[in-house]
Amino acid sequence: MTGGHRLRGRVQVAGSKNAALAIMAASLLTPEPLHLRNVPRILDTALMAEIVQAVGGRSKHDGEGRITLQATQVTDRVPAQMAQRMRASIVLLGPLLARTGEGRLTRPGGDQIGARRVEQHLRGFRAMGAQVEETEHEIIARSQGRLRGARIVLDLPTVTGTESLVMAATLAEGRTEIFNAAREPHVQDLCRLLNKMGADVRGAGTDQIVIYGGRRLRGTDHQIVPDYLEAGTYAIAAAAAGGDVTIEECPNEDLQQALLKLEEVGVQLEQRNRTLRVRRDPGRTLQAVDMGTWVHPGFPTDLQAQYMALMTQAQGSCVISEYIFENRFQHATELNRMGASIEINGRDALVTGPRQLQGATVGVSDIRSGAALVIAALCAHGVSAIEQAWHLDRGYEDLVEKFVALGADLERRPAAVPAGRRVEPA
Ligand code: EPZ
Repeated sequence: MTGGHRLRGRVQVAGSKNAALAIMAASLLTPEPLHLRNVPRILDTALMAEIVQAVGGRSKHDGEGRITLQATQVTDRVPAQMAQRMRASIVLLGPLLARTGEGRLTRPGGDQIGARRVEQHLRGFRAMGAQVEETEHEIIARSQGRLRGARIVLDLPTVTGTESLVMAATLAEGRTEIFNAAREPHVQDLCRLLNKMGADVRGAGTDQIVIYGGRRLRGTDHQIVPDYLEAGTYAIAAAAAGGDVTIEECPNEDLQQALLKLEEVGVQLEQRNRTLRVRRDPGRTLQAVDMGTWVHPGFPTDLQAQYMALMTQAQGSCVISEYIFENRFQHATELNRMGASIEINGRDALVTGPRQLQGATVGVSDIRSGAALVIAALCAHGVSAIEQAWHLDRGYEDLVEKFVALGADLERRPAAVPAGRRVEPA
């Protein structure tokens, strides 16, 4: 990438990664076909489709973001080497347990950003009558007969925990209440799909979800919601690099906290029905503004890294606090290598700017830190090489093509994709 180019033009947001992954897992709840549209063509959805096939289902793509999944029967367990490649595989535990009476998964384990604990998920399944065994490598949940409805109070509103428990509850006998449930847009889209499959899920988007279970679910047709995290990434990129960008299919209602911050920072925004126009005159100084991540509808942790890259270009100092994950500042080291001024103190990062960043060779450790490094490289003097960029392909559809269409100077250089990562595009 060569930095210093303003971004201009229009970019269309793809379907939501985190909604698609949970919704694809829901295909295991019925023997009938799920016809999905607007599925993002990224590595993670390709892997989830492979997993559905591996447990006995079928998946048919048409390459244009349309996928049909059908689990006429669920015969097998998720292959360990597949589950390990994607933490989101934990969301399969609920559907597998509810559909077959046994859910067996490799422990998802942590990744770069934190311990990624799952005790809330397991406590919920135990409350529904499952026996849950945890070994060093596996989680095994079994139920004699159907699960039964339960009152589940979550310590914290875990996203995949809420999704997995809601899916299990749709096939359980009786009524389940989940208190302190996650409210993220992808949780809401999953609940919309489940109700179209014939389930009775109420309260999606609030912190109390009630499910009347025991129904036979059917196949359906569903359009995945646009990805507010992808939209937020392009909005922050336009703010940092300067320019005039219109984001199409933008779910503004899901992004309110982030948009509020961008306005406080000094970015001009125009929100219209499904578009967001982002303008920042390069001569106009950005203001440093503190930010703390929180569960939805707070500022998304999945936009924290991108916001930090923006703050390296802002006048003054600000504190960015990461309240969701205990270890989500890897990008700070790489940004400092590009000339930023970021001091980490536990879950707080003190960012001082503006700093003229210099092109450098930097390494990506996860999807969102990768997006932050792309944004920094857009602002940097000279050439940057972003390594392990395959992480970005896990969560962003056609990222290089979209940025080039906005006037950025970047290209993909073939690099060895780690063994076991090469999957056919969805
Ligand atoms: C989901 O992960 C998303 N992934 C993440 O997006 C996102 O960062 C995260 O929610 C928070 O919004 C998908 O939807 C596939 P959590 P999840 O369970 O469900 C702790 C991206 O880049 N916790 O809500 O794994 C946990 O350790 C990815 O798109 C417990 O302590 O997140 C973490 O600190 C990255 N006990 C916090 O809660 C539990 O039982 C939030 O975790 C469960 C979670």
